[in-house]
Amino acid sequence: MYEKATRLFGDDPQVIHLEVGRPDFDTPDPIKAATIAALEAGKVHYGEFAGESDLRQAIVDDVRVRNGIDLTLRNVIVTNGLTHAAFAVTLAAIDPGDEVIILEPYYPQIINKIELAGGVVVSVPLNADNGFAIDAERIERAVTPRTRMIYLVNPNNPTGRVYSRQELQALADVAIRHDLLVCSDEVYERIVFDDAEHISIAALPGMAERTFTLFAFTKAYAMDGWRIGYLIADARFIPALLKITANDVSHVNVFIQAGAVAALRGDQSIARSMVEEDRRRRDMVCQRLNAMPGVVCPVPPGTIYVYPDIKGTGYSSQELADLLLQETQVAVESGAFYGPAGEGYLRLCIGCEPYARIAEAMDRIAAFIDHIRQPRSAEA
Ligand SMILES: Cc1ncc(COP(=O)(O)O)c(C=O)c1O
Repeated sequence: MYEKATRLFGDDPQVIHLEVGRPDFDTPDPIKAATIAALEAGKVHYGEFAGESDLRQAIVDDVRVRNGIDLTLRNVIVTNGLTHAAFAVTLAAIDPGDEVIILEPYYPQIINKIELAGGVVVSVPLNADNGFAIDAERIERAVTPRTRMIYLVNPNNPTGRVYSRQELQALADVAIRHDLLVCSDEVYERIVFDDAEHISIAALPGMAERTFTLFAFTKAYAMDGWRIGYLIADARFIPALLKITANDVSHVNVFIQAGAVAALRGDQSIARSMVEEDRRRRDMVCQRLNAMPGVVCPVPPGTIYVYPDIKGTGYSSQELADLLLQETQVAVESGAFYGPAGEGYLRLCIGCEPYARIAEAMDRIAAFIDHIRQPRSAEA
């Protein structure tokens, strides 16, 4: 949709971009200052393949306390964002012909990586009626002798769901019963609202040894352009993972890693205030969408996305996304972009434009929906 918006309208500031999934905040000053200081101190040479040990120690301290995963420096590799971590895991763990279960609606970027590794994507559609909750029985029915891994995104893009302990335990039971690996993308772990609790599946009994947990500084610290993240894995997997990361990029820039140390060790109040602003935007967007005829928007407990059900408008996801772009210059993503289970939904990012611009987008969408005089029935 971003490409479509740019093709139609170039960089016209009238276009409000709610389709791209990136924070609109600036990186907090202390992170920038630590990076600049590292540059000035001469941190411009080769570093450690797995990442600088002071950053890995900061990661160990943070992950142990916040995520409850027991680990040491030997379990950590610093990567160029979560994308690079996912690439290394799929190439290291998937052999040609191995099946990887993904949960639908899915984050599409993982599909190419699985296929590049020679793997076969097995998409398990989750049920919209229960908010796309993990359905362990359905997932277990998709397991075959070729299944190698289950890929999880928690908190979830696009649905905004933050999986409960019970859901994760049911998934963990399937993984343990069938001796499967789990790869858990937790890029939104810090963006949870109200009393929602993020739980890392690797913290559940018996899971650390079979789980790759992927994190990044990307969203919570507004560092998407910096390209820095990290993965946590059992020590037996680290040599294979390093074979990939060290051969494709050697290691992440050393001075950027100094900024990442400041992010983890520093005052978290700036990061918290960004989450608070995301919550304010989420509340406004959900309230506005729920007031529109034919639209039902569950309030997501995490991430920077809302995933409204638009079936009551009578339009398909792509039709409505295209119409909104053409008629209102508001770009949103079709829910079906995340797999057929997402048909009848849109995905709107509440993190990528300032509050006033998002409010303006809601005015335009509301006026457009009002303009569709009589909602067409879903069967029409
Ligand atoms: C679920 C998910 N994983 C990974 C990424 C990419 O993360 P990074 O920019 O750190 O590679 C995104 C970005 O939108 C995402 O939504």
